[in-house]
Amino acid sequence: MALLCQIQQRYSVRSYQKRPVEKEKLATVLEAGRLAPSASNTQDWRFVVVQDAAVRKQLVPAANNQAFVGEAPVIIVCCGINPAYTMRCGQPAYAIDLAIAIDHMTLQAVEEGLGTCWIGSFDEDQVRVILGIPADTRVVELLALGYPNDTPKPKNRLPLKQIVCYDRWTFT
Ligand SMILES: Cc1cc2nc3c(=O)[nH]c(=O)nc-3n(C[C@H](O)[C@H](O)[C@H](O)COP(=O)(O)O)c2cc1C
Repeated sequence: MALLCQIQQRYSVRSYQKRPVEKEKLATVLEAGRLAPSASNTQDWRFVVVQDAAVRKQLVPAANNQAFVGEAPVIIVCCGINPAYTMRCGQPAYAIDLAIAIDHMTLQAVEEGLGTCWIGSFDEDQVRVILGIPADTRVVELLALGYPNDTPKPKNRLPLKQIVCYDRWTFT
């Protein structure tokens, strides 16, 4: 499948089948994250793959009571282990690096017939306690993964001409 097709087909899946994700498919999704680029290739990311139903249930209140967090058979907890590293441009690298890895995983998931949803609405300290994540590690995002139990809605995106200009800033 052409990459743009996967990009077009990816959507936020907020309802999941009980069907588990096959080990091989999960490994392929994680491999896509592993191969992502990172600033200075530091790869300062760690991923806690939560499949235990009891632990997933604990994550629901930590994730603003979003029910699908308990329904999705896999929650990938995406962490940055070096939040102090800032690039010369002034941006901390960890959240950017994690976002790239997560995006790779979401697109590979489409290729595997799986759905995902980024979850930024969560209490970091609660997630840390539940999973035993050290205090100096940032929990950047949770990623739900599983077989979709819903259907995509049309994408709502700004047109290119509203978000792109050429050669100089011409936005009004
Ligand atoms: C960084 C980030 C955090 C998000 N957090 C949540 C979340 O906590 N809960 C949720 O249901 N969707 C969450 N989303 C999904 C967005 O709402 C969704 O991507 C956006 O509305 C576009 O829809 P689409 O993903 O279906 O194309 C998040 C997306 C991103 C990129």
